[in-house]
Order: sequence, then C-alpha cells, then structure tokens
Amino acid sequence: MTELHGVAPSILAADFARLGDQVGEVLAAGARVIHVDIMDGHFVPPLTMGPLVVSALADRVHDAGALIDVHMMIERPERQISEFAKAGADNITFHAEATPHVHYAIGAIKDAGCTAGVAICPATPVRVLAEVAADLDLALCMTVNPGWGGQPFIPASPGKIERLRALIGAGPALEVDGGIDTSTAGACSQAGATVFVAGTALFGAPDPAAAYREIAAAAHTPTVSASIPPSTSIAGRSPSNSRRRRTLPGDPGRKAWPPQPGFTVMQSTRSTSSTSSPTTVAGVPGFRASPARQPASRTALSA
Ligand code: DX5
Ligand code: ZN
Repeated sequence: MTELHGVAPSILAADFARLGDQVGEVLAAGARVIHVDIMDGHFVPPLTMGPLVVSALADRVHDAGALIDVHMMIERPERQISEFAKAGADNITFHAEATPHVHYAIGAIKDAGCTAGVAICPATPVRVLAEVAADLDLALCMTVNPGWGGQPFIPASPGKIERLRALIGAGPALEVDGGIDTSTAGACSQAGATVFVAGTALFGAPDPAAAYREIAAAAHTPTVSASIPPSTSIAGRSPSNSRRRRTLPGDPGRKAWPPQPGFTVMQSTRSTSSTSSPTTVAGVPGFRASPARQPASRTALSA
C-alpha cells in the first residue's frame, strides 16, 4: 500500500506550461507523493489553483501508484473538502489557524474518503493540536510562513518538529514544508519528519529528477524504484473507485514577512530552461490572518 512518506514535490514551483510533463518526471524518478498548494488570497495573499488542477493530474499520479497531497491555505477549508476529494485528492491538509472547526474538518475529510492532515504556521504552538492528535493522519509543520515558495528554512524548525512528534506520537506522518533542500531535509528527518515537501529546490533545479533523488538521500528516506510499472495499484483502489482510505506510517537570510512588493513567488533561480516568469506579489498591507467567524453546526458548515 502506498504511504504518505518521503519527498513530496510541490508543483507550486513547477513550470505550469508543462505541468503534466514535470509531474511525470518526478514520478519516474520515484516520487510517490505530489504536493498541491491551494491558496485563496485571504488566508495567504496569493491565489494559486483549485480542484480543476487536482483533477487534471489525478489519473497520471494515481496510475503511477502515487498520492495527491492537497495543502489548503484557505479560510474556512471545511467548505471545500468535498470538491477536492471528488477531484482526486488522497490526503487533504488544512490550517489550524484557518477555521475554528478543526475537529469537524478532520471528520469531514475522512468522511470524504481521504486521509486528514492539519498544518500549523511557524508562530503557532504545537499544543493547538493536542486535542485532535489522536485523530490525525498527518501533521504539517510549516518551516516557512505559508504563501510563497523560495523562502529560506526557519532555523528553529527542528526543535518544533521534535515537539510536534512528541505530541502526536509515532503513528501519524509528520510533514515539513518550506525551504526543504539537501541542506535542511536531514535535520528535519532526525527531528521526526517523514514527509518532505520540496518546491524550488526540486522544480527549480536543472534536473528535477536528480534533485528529487538528492533530497531523498539527504532525508535518509528510501527512494522508490523508478522501475515500478505504471500499472502498480494501490491497495483498495479500483479504476472505478479511486477514493479510499489509506494507512500512514507510523534565521539567517530570513526575509521580512509578509513579503515586500517585488518578492518573487517562485524562486528566481529556477531553471533557465523555464519559459515562465516569476510572478511578483503586490504589497500586502491589507493582509489579515483570520477573520472572526460564527459558530455553526456541522450540517450548516457543510452547506
Ligand atoms: C508554501 C507552500 C510550499 C511551497 C514550498 O506556502 O506551502 O509547499 O511550495 O516551496 P519551497 O520548497 O520553494 O520552499
Ligand atoms: Zn505546501
């Protein structure tokens, strides 16, 4: 059974003009988790992609025996769970800071047939997950502030990863996201991380497949043989039913944040063969982290 484990290429840093091919490259190199960043322009300033992109990639990823790992950086994530599940997400992670209904959202993700993860921003203490630790399939420790690729790894992160691992126990996957490369993956692994999201260091490299293998080696995670045939299936999946539950294994250089005008969304060192241009972020004086919300019943939330 495929597990949510190892290096997870983040397509945020891919060349969207040839997204399918880029995902195919890293799948061929052995990647078995494809990370998809969803941003709504509210929880974080940028807008990125939605269920249509997940749907467009789903068959290709699943046919390779890999998983789609959706990272929702959106307000009120509980309203979008069913759309992403229908589109082909295997794991859905949302931010604890983005909803007062963390327990409800975890249940809704599992009800939709996906595994459930909860993410926390760098300033959020690990204890916010204490009451739901037993319900988690995955905990995501942000190692940069969410919203942009290409930021430097926050040096204090390994200590936080250790505290998070101690809180959740050995069972759930522990994902790290932001600034992961060959110089940071090892420390995260030693601290207890098991899933390593890599965007710029991977798709920004001249050879993403080679970068995947190097980061995987740095994280001391076994690379999956690229010889696995495309027809390899995941236990529980059939062509007509791709939705199913899966088990999971058990400040130097820091930029000001929110980024100043001109900050590049995608790292400027991306492959020179890329035809796309980095996008700049406008000033973000109106950025708000989390508006007041009204309590609502589960039924009302899902409406
Ligand atoms: C940032 C996203 C990350 C991003 C990581 O908010 O959640 O997944 O793609 O990019 P890098 O690896 O460039 O830090
Ligand atoms: Zn992410």
